[in-house]
Amino acid sequence: MNNFSFGNPTRILFGEGQIKAISEEIPADARVMLVYGGGSIKQNGVYDQIIDALGDRIISEFAGVEANPEFTTLCKAAKQAQDDNITYLLAAGGGSVIDGVKFIAAAACFEGDPWQILLKWGKNIQHALPFGSILTLPATGSEMNSGSVVNRSEMKAKLPFGSPLCYPKFSVLDPTTTYTLPVRQLTNGIVDPFTHVMEQYLTYPVGADLQDRLAEAILQSLIETGPKALADPDNYDLRANLMWCATMALNGLIGCGVPQDWSTHMIGHELTALYGLDHAQTLAVVLPANLRIRKADKREKLLQYAERVWHINEGSDDERIEAAIARTEAFFQQVGAPTRLTDYQLGDDAIGAVLSQLKQHQMVKLGERQDVTLEVSAKILEAAR
Ligand code: NZQ
Ligand code: ZN
Repeated sequence: MNNFSFGNPTRILFGEGQIKAISEEIPADARVMLVYGGGSIKQNGVYDQIIDALGDRIISEFAGVEANPEFTTLCKAAKQAQDDNITYLLAAGGGSVIDGVKFIAAAACFEGDPWQILLKWGKNIQHALPFGSILTLPATGSEMNSGSVVNRSEMKAKLPFGSPLCYPKFSVLDPTTTYTLPVRQLTNGIVDPFTHVMEQYLTYPVGADLQDRLAEAILQSLIETGPKALADPDNYDLRANLMWCATMALNGLIGCGVPQDWSTHMIGHELTALYGLDHAQTLAVVLPANLRIRKADKREKLLQYAERVWHINEGSDDERIEAAIARTEAFFQQVGAPTRLTDYQLGDDAIGAVLSQLKQHQMVKLGERQDVTLEVSAKILEAAR
């Protein structure tokens, strides 16, 4: 196992009715700005619960953070936070709103052009406003990590950043807030956490037995629970399990002391930046192709994955590996995420466009061995046609 340093300061308030507990978490004298997206929180009662819990501590609101949050929108929100002397931010929504609030928290305290935060991957963040989150779409894990992804459409750039100052102080995970999710977002909430686990697990062995077993447990829970939750959308326990899986998939725990890949994500971000695919849709396209193209490098872990996650014990090594990748692909399709570029009306010209974006963003040495060059990314995209 590799050396690691692990700490996660985010308090999780889990379960039905927990929104009211935020009044204990946010200082009584805080000047709070509530940030949300296109209005789903007004339709499902989350907004009213927040107002009840915090009352006049909310000084201002910022609505309209987009899916794949936009840099210019977030800069306006940061300006509003400065103008209103805000001391605490509260995000209510999915990964985009929470990621957006991480950026607002940093940008509101940043000297100079906030685009630099993204160009420096967040390493130049010295101060950030404290913030909490109320998660309504379990998928990204943003509610318990310090990362964020911001989109700048006019540059066709979707760039990640992170900072230890960008962990939420607390996150409320109330599964009942997810009952109003459209099927497509429930699908995203299965595929994205699945891929987060794979990016940390499906690399090469370093003797990290517990991390492997935890990763396999999350994958198996998603495989078991995902289709059931789609078929039985009012079932609280299924929603609760999906929600906790999504958080555990990317809160740092399973990534301790292991090599990490993330090439599927970086290629996927370019597909979103160029063509507006949902984040998880891009992963469903890229992951199976990525595993196929790099199966020689990932051989030992693919065999372990085949046996322990899918219980595939018959056939040669190559056959078991291919069967495991095919099962992954079939699982994504089963939960409603098509796995080919052509399923999203993308042809060969998209491959060239993604490659030139990757080059422009210096995404030319990706993966756990930094050997996913543009040539390898090209093969992956070709295999995803
Ligand atoms: O804007 P509103 O009206 O709230 O509607 C949203 C949005 O349209 C809707 N929604 C959310 N909760 C709902 C709901 N609709 C009905 N009922 C509810 N309870 O769902 C739509 C999509 O929301 P969004 O937040 O964009 O989805 P998701 O949570 O999948 O977040 C995706 C973003 O997170 C980034 C992605 O790149 C993408 O920008 N990621 C962040 C990561 C992180 N911080 O660690 C890691 C991930 O790999 C990912 O890159
Ligand atoms: Zn993701």
